[in-house]
Amino acid sequence: MKVLVIGGGAREHALCRSLSLDPDVSALYCAPGNAGISEVAELRPVDALDGDAVTALAIELGADLVVVGPEAPLVAGVADAVRAAGIPVFGPSGEAAQLEGSKAFAKDVMAAAGVPTARSYVCTTPEEVDEALDAFGAPYVVKDDGLAAGKGVVVTEDRAAARAHALGCDRVVIEEYLDGPEVSLFAITDGVTVVPLQPAQDFKRALDGDEGPNTGGMGAYSPLPWADPKLVDEVMELVLQPTVDELRHRGTPFSGLLYAGLAITGRGTRVIEFNARFGDPETQVVLARLRTPLAGVLLNAANGTLDVQPPLRWSEDAAVTVVIASHNYPETPRTGDVIEGLAEVAAEDAPDAYVLHAGTRREGDSVVSAGGRVLSVTATGSDLAQAREKAYKAVARIRLDGSQHRTDIAAKAAARP
Ligand code: AMP
Ligand code: GLY
Repeated sequence: MKVLVIGGGAREHALCRSLSLDPDVSALYCAPGNAGISEVAELRPVDALDGDAVTALAIELGADLVVVGPEAPLVAGVADAVRAAGIPVFGPSGEAAQLEGSKAFAKDVMAAAGVPTARSYVCTTPEEVDEALDAFGAPYVVKDDGLAAGKGVVVTEDRAAARAHALGCDRVVIEEYLDGPEVSLFAITDGVTVVPLQPAQDFKRALDGDEGPNTGGMGAYSPLPWADPKLVDEVMELVLQPTVDELRHRGTPFSGLLYAGLAITGRGTRVIEFNARFGDPETQVVLARLRTPLAGVLLNAANGTLDVQPPLRWSEDAAVTVVIASHNYPETPRTGDVIEGLAEVAAEDAPDAYVLHAGTRREGDSVVSAGGRVLSVTATGSDLAQAREKAYKAVARIRLDGSQHRTDIAAKAAARP
């Protein structure tokens, strides 16, 4: 099977790594990719937001499956263009991707499907904003309605800051604060059948101890030793299947990866958000534990034949990933710094620990930073403590001027008796 992956972050590197290990994959391409992905896939330049260009590339390469990684091309309808050319594609239509592209749309789907989520108001005027802020009180949760790369959400005790963020958005969702640990649960679906993956936890704040601004994610781990073993079944029944059914009944079936961001509150599990694609950095740890070859699962989802997919097989190992971000991330990340130590990790720590590239590119003989999140150092071990130790040992070998990473990824979960 020839597979073309669209995108070029750590999620796509994790996807390409898994696909490159799949014996059914005879050729693997990634467009546009990054410096790390070039080691496992052939890179092709493409404007990932241009559906016609992606389709033309898929035809040229004779791709049997196209996997669209990031949200922006999905919302732009790139999967629709590829599907219209008769090529199997893993990723929802532009309309179904509105589940991520519009927080207001997601709230509407959840209300119709009876999916538990925070109570919310959609506001477009300063009067509506004030009313909503007063209705819920502090802590205030204010979300830009559109795509904002994980940075459109402000959670604050400060009413003036909440109001200022709200007034800076055209349309804003203001909602009830959800207290409790967060879980990311991914499911692969063909629009009818839903196959859940293993849960993971992401670290959204920039600094240790969950301090600092929200980011795209600074690290993740899986499994979650503290979670109720019935969590996956419960989320399947209350969240994932009803959402997939509701979208199908609306005539906008969702096929691809449905990502439920959940809060485990004292009053039950609630959806914080949906995404329409694999999450980053959770994908890095979830795929590190998946034993079933990936390509066939994605192809079954693309072809509407997930009902014949045998149950997924999972490793007993734990996985931890630590993100190395550039100087000044997430505000104004500095790029163009040389990354050193990659070969040492490959020589000393592989295969248990390895580096997945997020924002990197080649410049002559060196690899340099090219984005806010630069690398995602991933490791597996017999438990979280061991996976953590291996991940941080590899992190210590990487040298990138001014870089930052959290030192407490999976620390609490690993310290549990
Ligand atoms: P989102 O982009 O919707 O995932 O929001 C980013 C982060 O903001 C989430 O991972 C949570 O940490 C936080 N957040 C979002 N909504 C809420 C909420 N209703 N209550 C508490 N925290 C929230
Ligand atoms: N890990 C958060 C996201 O992918 O949006």
